[in-house]
Amino acid sequence: MNPLAGQLNEQMQAGNPHIYNMLSTLGKEIYFPKEGILSQSAEAANHAHKYNATIGIATEGGTPMHLDVIQDKLSSFQPKDLYPYAPPAGKPELRSVWRSKMIQDNPSLEGKAFGNPIVTNALTHGLSIVADLFVDEGDAVIYPDKNWENYDLTFGIRRHGVHISYPLFTEHMKFNADGLRQALLQQQDKGKAIVLLNFPNNPTGYTPGAEEGKAILAAIQDAAEAGINVVVVTDDAYFGLFFEDSLKESLFGHLCGLHPRILPIKVDGATKEEFVWGFRVGFITFASDDPGVLSALEQKTLGIIRATISSGAHPSQTFVLEALKSADYQAQKEVKFEILKGRANKVKSLLDSGKYGDVWQYYPFNSGYFMCLKLRTVSAEALRSHLLHNYGVGTIALGEHDLRIAFSCIEESYLEEMFDLIYQGILDLQQS
Ligand SMILES: Cc1ncc(COP(=O)(O)O)c(C=O)c1O
Repeated sequence: MNPLAGQLNEQMQAGNPHIYNMLSTLGKEIYFPKEGILSQSAEAANHAHKYNATIGIATEGGTPMHLDVIQDKLSSFQPKDLYPYAPPAGKPELRSVWRSKMIQDNPSLEGKAFGNPIVTNALTHGLSIVADLFVDEGDAVIYPDKNWENYDLTFGIRRHGVHISYPLFTEHMKFNADGLRQALLQQQDKGKAIVLLNFPNNPTGYTPGAEEGKAILAAIQDAAEAGINVVVVTDDAYFGLFFEDSLKESLFGHLCGLHPRILPIKVDGATKEEFVWGFRVGFITFASDDPGVLSALEQKTLGIIRATISSGAHPSQTFVLEALKSADYQAQKEVKFEILKGRANKVKSLLDSGKYGDVWQYYPFNSGYFMCLKLRTVSAEALRSHLLHNYGVGTIALGEHDLRIAFSCIEESYLEEMFDLIYQGILDLQQS
């Protein structure tokens, strides 16, 4: 074991041994080199007033060397905010602006002990950092039967975690907190579980209400009280797109400080919230009452980042930071929110109009980008393929009978025609 990793582990054991015990073997072994190139460069940046010959970039005329064919197109930004490496943890100002935004959007975070968000290469990367730090072969990774399929690769294939599934909905079409509780309590022998919570949910577009939120927290707390160490990840990819009377905050705020055996981790980012899917800017944030645990987790996260991508892209961090600081930001976001809400409402009114008979039910949706039809009479894959090849309509088949529809990418005025075509596709298949 590297002595620096050993020190971080001791710091965690002293601060909260349960959280230390949640670490994977890699999580225990990883550290961020204190005396390597990055820290010597950082020290030189403060003190090398004459010649700074440490940094691994090229400079010219006191600015990062660059090509006009690039800079001419990006001339609103200064070369220093585009070309040099961003720090492995991300641009400091972006981290603090995102932290303030988190508190503003989630008033339950006020006064809670949580770290500074660390910039990731968007949410997938944040999730894979969680998997690296906390998942070993055979560890239970608990998420519902309706989920984002990439979890299987990130937690299962890459880290050999075991997916423990539970039905997302009860028979009354509410969030199945009892299913979550049972999945958790089954892990008593292992003494550890990783829980993934994703609201608004991909693929259903569901976010629980306040009472369901309390039941989720109670289930997790019960598991902690039963002696299970629980890493709880809130995957807040679609945060903010709450169109109805659901929870409008991440459960991360309520998980902070809930129990010493619970480690809340918030994975969020600009991808969907700020409509910058290809920019690849996300964040990972840990919560703990112990500052030593928080700083050790940050160092270990930086170790994973340094070992994998070294640091995130600088231009996108600058673009997102400038947007967040702009006076027009809120107003522009509000306009886009209303457009998406209009589409969600339109879908609901079409589905509730009765014009499609009873060929499908739909899972409850109140948020996010998606909704899911539950087909009654035809298979989802048969319909998907039929719609694509006969009507030019693309949808996603999930399992035997679920069809996911991203209303986020269909203009409101076209939604009726699209659902009419989906309906027609079902009639065609029923006749054939
Ligand atoms: C639930 C969920 N989490 C995470 C992600 C990944 O987001 P990113 O593109 O920021 O990696 C997605 C993207 O589709 C998602 O649906």
